[in-house]
This record gives sequence, C-alpha cells and structure tokens, in this order.
Amino acid sequence: MPATAVLATRATFADIVDRLREHFELIDNPSDTVWSAAELVERLQGKAGVMSTGSERIDAALLDACPQLKAVCNVGVGYNNIDVAACTARGVLVTNTPDVLTETTADLGFALMMATARRLAESERFLRRGEWTQTGIYDQFVGGDVHGATLGILGMGRIGRGIARRGALGFGMRVIYHNRSRLDPAVEAETGAHYVDKPTLLGEADHLVIVVPYSAASHHAVGAPELALMKPSATLTNIARGGVVDDAALAEALRSNRIAAAGLDVFEGEPSVYPGLLDVPNVVLTPHIASASVATRRAMADLAADNLVAALGCGPRAGHPLTPVNRP
Ligand code: DGY
Repeated sequence: MPATAVLATRATFADIVDRLREHFELIDNPSDTVWSAAELVERLQGKAGVMSTGSERIDAALLDACPQLKAVCNVGVGYNNIDVAACTARGVLVTNTPDVLTETTADLGFALMMATARRLAESERFLRRGEWTQTGIYDQFVGGDVHGATLGILGMGRIGRGIARRGALGFGMRVIYHNRSRLDPAVEAETGAHYVDKPTLLGEADHLVIVVPYSAASHHAVGAPELALMKPSATLTNIARGGVVDDAALAEALRSNRIAAAGLDVFEGEPSVYPGLLDVPNVVLTPHIASASVATRRAMADLAADNLVAALGCGPRAGHPLTPVNRP
C-alpha cells in the first residue's frame, strides 16, 4: 500500500521532518516560502493531512479543492486561520497546540507590558541615536510603574491567567479581567483577580493586556470608543491577534497621547504594520514572537506532529490526537 501523503507548509525542526517521514510520504518546505492560496491547493493535492501554521488560510474553498484532506494540524494555539465549521462539515479533523506555549507566551506578554510601561524601546532608540548627552535629567523617559498598579486583562484563558499570576504574585498588582464568562472563584482566588465589565476594565486598568482569541465577535474589540475610556496614563499590550485592536485608531490614540503607550506583538494584516504605528515613538513593536523560545517552538512542532500522526491512524495514539479542536 502506498504511504499516506502529508504536507508541512512551513520549515520546521529537522527531527520533526524525520519523524513525519517515518509514517508518511512528506512534502515539506525547507526554503520556508509562504505559498499563495493557489500554490497551497496545488501542493495539497493527494495529501491526507497537513501540518499548517497561521500563515495559511484553510477555508471552505480550499477544502472543496482538496477533498482527500482528513486532518489539519496547526502549529499554534490560535486557529483563526482555519474555518473549523467548514472542516467539521467535511469530516476534516482540526488540532492546535495549547498548553505547551502558555508560560512562554505569558512571559513575552508581561515583558512587552513592562517594556511599554517603562519606555524601553523609546529610550534605547534615543541612546543608539547618540542623543544621550546629559545625565540626571529628572523627567527623562519617566514612565508608569508596574508594581502595585492595576493590571487589566481582556481574555482570561490560560495565557491571560499566566499573565495574572505574574502580575499578582510577582509584582503585587491588582488584577481585574473581562472575559466571555466569569472564572471559577477558586481560579480567581489564585491571583485575587476580579471580574469586571468591559467599560470598567478599560477605565480602571493602568496596564491593559489583550489576550482574547480573534473571531468575528472580537474584531476591533478595542477601537476608538474603547480607547476613549482608558486613562491617559494607561498602556495597552496586544499579544492576541491583529484585528482584535483597531490599529489605525490605536495609532491615533498614541499620536494624540490619548493613552500613554502600547506594546504590540500582533498586527492587522501582518507582516505589514499600519504605517501610523511606525511613526509614533510611544510604542514597542515585536514581530509576533510571543511563543518564540527554542523549547516552546520545539514543543509546539512536536505536538502538531504527534497530532498529525495520531489523526491519520498511526503511532501509539492512532485515532486519538492529543489536542483536537473539533469532533468531525
Ligand atoms: C499561536 O500559537 O497562536 C501564536 O500566535 C503563534 O502563532
């Protein structure tokens, strides 16, 4: 019987490629080219499974053009690049990579919030430009304190709770959050987190961190009306997805000092960045690296590969992928 054929859409660790080749006939992408939708459809012909990433859109049109596809195993906890309902309707299993990236992503979220509050990027650029010519200026690059401040979290899933722990237990922060549903009181008690409505979250947070998954419901969850509710001294950090924040409205809020500063790891239409965000000094920008530690990127690839092997009926967990998103 010919081996089951699968596709890995982006470059990955060499041993993951080797492991997939133990089970499948694999087409991989060592040059890490980002394929167009048409190129992806072409390469998916005859493939039963795909190890995908956020850079590929898996939608109804693609599924209809690739009727032999049985499993889409995404490297990433977020899967807004995949139309899960369309997959379910066609019997295609979807998996993601939760848990393995929670702490690494929370680390980056907290680091970005701190860098934003204390103006690290802005002051480093100043120093590198050779503009630091006088020491001891009393208000040079003064920012907002992190310790003891109010940390507002929009989206209190696993990563949001990781950020809450860092704030409450490491920095003595008061934690407030808004979520689709209120957490179990025992979970709230771990960090003393208080559930509040969204206007209260926006109005009371000294540092707002956004960790809500992207969906039609969360599109532009923070735009001009929401930014208008924030304190002028407040910061906003987005490690969720581009599109949860209205980047044009945010750029204007930063330009007019409506809020103090922002830290952004994700962008609408990335890798393009809204030009207005590049023009303002009070923003720290990173290229979607929240999960980018060596150990975590490896764990994500490992989990996605395990899911693909199991989803296509191979390995010790044949038929039982570890982290399914749907049950087709
Ligand atoms: C995720 O896991 O969703 C991260 O954003 C990496 O893509």
